[in-house]
Amino acid sequence: MLDKIYITRKLPEEIVEPLREKFEVHMWHSEEKGMTYEEIKTNAKDVQALWTMLSDNIDRALIESLPNLKVISNFGVGFNNIDIEAAKEHGIAVTNTPGVLTETTADLTFALLLATARRITEVEQEIRSGNWTSWSPMQYTGMDVFGATLGIVGMGRIGEAVARRAKGFDMNVLYHNRTRKLDAEETYGFTYAELDDLLKKSDFVILLTPLTPETKGLIGERELNLMKETSAIINVARGSIVDEKALYDALVNKKIWAAGMDVFEQEPVPVNHPLLTLPNVTMSPHIGSASIRTRLAMMQMNSKDIEAVLEGKQPKNRVV
Ligand code: DGY
Repeated sequence: MLDKIYITRKLPEEIVEPLREKFEVHMWHSEEKGMTYEEIKTNAKDVQALWTMLSDNIDRALIESLPNLKVISNFGVGFNNIDIEAAKEHGIAVTNTPGVLTETTADLTFALLLATARRITEVEQEIRSGNWTSWSPMQYTGMDVFGATLGIVGMGRIGEAVARRAKGFDMNVLYHNRTRKLDAEETYGFTYAELDDLLKKSDFVILLTPLTPETKGLIGERELNLMKETSAIINVARGSIVDEKALYDALVNKKIWAAGMDVFEQEPVPVNHPLLTLPNVTMSPHIGSASIRTRLAMMQMNSKDIEAVLEGKQPKNRVV
């Protein structure tokens, strides 16, 4: 009997085809609409491999309801949607897609930084809605990115790639991380700072840390109050790292100047979310790694790792 794979979102057939030669592959029918928790539980009940998306909540109860499971391969570098401890206890390998998305995600981070600083989405809306009726000297003015101080919270691979780009803009780069990156400090001239110090000094704060119990709610009212009134915060990591209610209050009360967000506490963002009413919030819909080439490369990584585990080999990108 062939091992079974379940894929929780419709993926391009060219990616899935090679797996079909060796395994029994089942795939959800929709590209846009994800599976519910119950649908995963039912559809994947006897599979050996589960190929998941970051929107799938793979908790202990779900893991324990899939007795034949050998591998969970998650589409993304983050894996906060999976109960890693439960997988480990049951000897289930968990894999992700690091590395291949680093530069693409750093590009998006920089795009969001520039768009936030120069109010790009807000002013585009002015043109589209016919509000741009005259040109005037201080109209639609924003903040300079070049020469500004950038504070990166979470100096992993993506953080370093963002910091390298920042150097091209003559930015002064501060970073905060669990461990110091002495080599990178020396090579690129980044400066380590304690979180409070980084928040006080930065013109732009970029969040790039994984979501863990320690980083959940890392940026709340106290932290936002430490930031400059002229500063902006950019979140491209995970929504729950920021307390969105506190962020809304900080923006309305002008404790900070603007925010750029690629990720949200709830995704997709509900259309009545208070942050959507603020013109100084620049948003994108969780597209950090969303270039065609990178998304296809991520799929290839998942596919190869699933194949490896099912063939009794070590997957390349094993989290546990
Ligand atoms: C990741 O890889 O974790 C990203 O958030 C997906 O775009």
